[in-house]
Amino acid sequence: MKFSSRQVEDIIIIPQYDWWSPTGPQGSLHKFNKVRANFIRKNLMNDAMPIETQEEYFSKFRVLDIGCGAGILSESLGRLGMGSVTGIDPTDKCVELAQAHLKLDADLAKKVTYKNTTVEALIDEKFNTNNNQSPHKDELYDLVCCSEVIEHVNDQQEFLRKCAKLVKPETGYFFLSTIAKTPESYFLTILMAEYVLRLVPKGTHEWNQYINVEDIEGALSSQAFRTVAKAGAMVTNPLTMEMDEFPNWLRGNYMILSKRLI
Ligand SMILES: C[S@@+](CC[C@H](N)C(=O)[O-])C[C@H]1O[C@@H](n2cnc3c(N)ncnc32)[C@H](O)[C@@H]1O
Repeated sequence: MKFSSRQVEDIIIIPQYDWWSPTGPQGSLHKFNKVRANFIRKNLMNDAMPIETQEEYFSKFRVLDIGCGAGILSESLGRLGMGSVTGIDPTDKCVELAQAHLKLDADLAKKVTYKNTTVEALIDEKFNTNNNQSPHKDELYDLVCCSEVIEHVNDQQEFLRKCAKLVKPETGYFFLSTIAKTPESYFLTILMAEYVLRLVPKGTHEWNQYINVEDIEGALSSQAFRTVAKAGAMVTNPLTMEMDEFPNWLRGNYMILSKRLI
């Protein structure tokens, strides 16, 4: 299968571990997951100020989770009440893990699905490249998520452009989380997380692949997106490794929600 990532070979190592153990090698992803799910929930609600309840509003959402891994975020989005969630990932072992975990919750399995595919293949499927026809907007997504993925991708601008294409025009949202390219992020996410505390396997991250929020915003605004909210995320308790949102510090892990205007 063709896709454009640095070190997918390395990433393939990760599924050998238990992604779903909150204290396992993906433990920090689980801690972060609570923060990002809450960030998505409250900012979608704040932005739209829907007159219906959260449950009614989210039940109309068609969600795509790009690079879903073992489905940690996809499952949370399903539990938030999203109408449907499709998780895609080019690593087949991740998709196998996601599917296996989903079987533990029969109700959730009715609205979450996983596919071992790439953004490129999904775009080919949706956009008829031969006659350049755009799909009907109902075939696109109300919310496209791309969490902890872009730092593994080589051509990040092109990747963002493709992700943006899958967001429903005028009303759709794009959520992204990644790591800023700063000295602080090197210290926190490589030196401390990989080498000192060994929270994630060594070599998980490559500092050169990190990208600052201004670059994400620049790429998205050229695709007619407006930033709805952005915030950093940091460990607040070194004993439990619990994380929280830091609205004014986007120099380490951070999250951004944008809306497609046209
Ligand atoms: C750190 S994991 C994040 C998993 C999930 N998004 C989460 O946060 O729980 C990175 C994931 O990105 C996927 N990935 C790597 N390159 C990708 C690409 N070009 N397109 C889509 N997914 C990719 C990997 O297979 C892996 O599952």
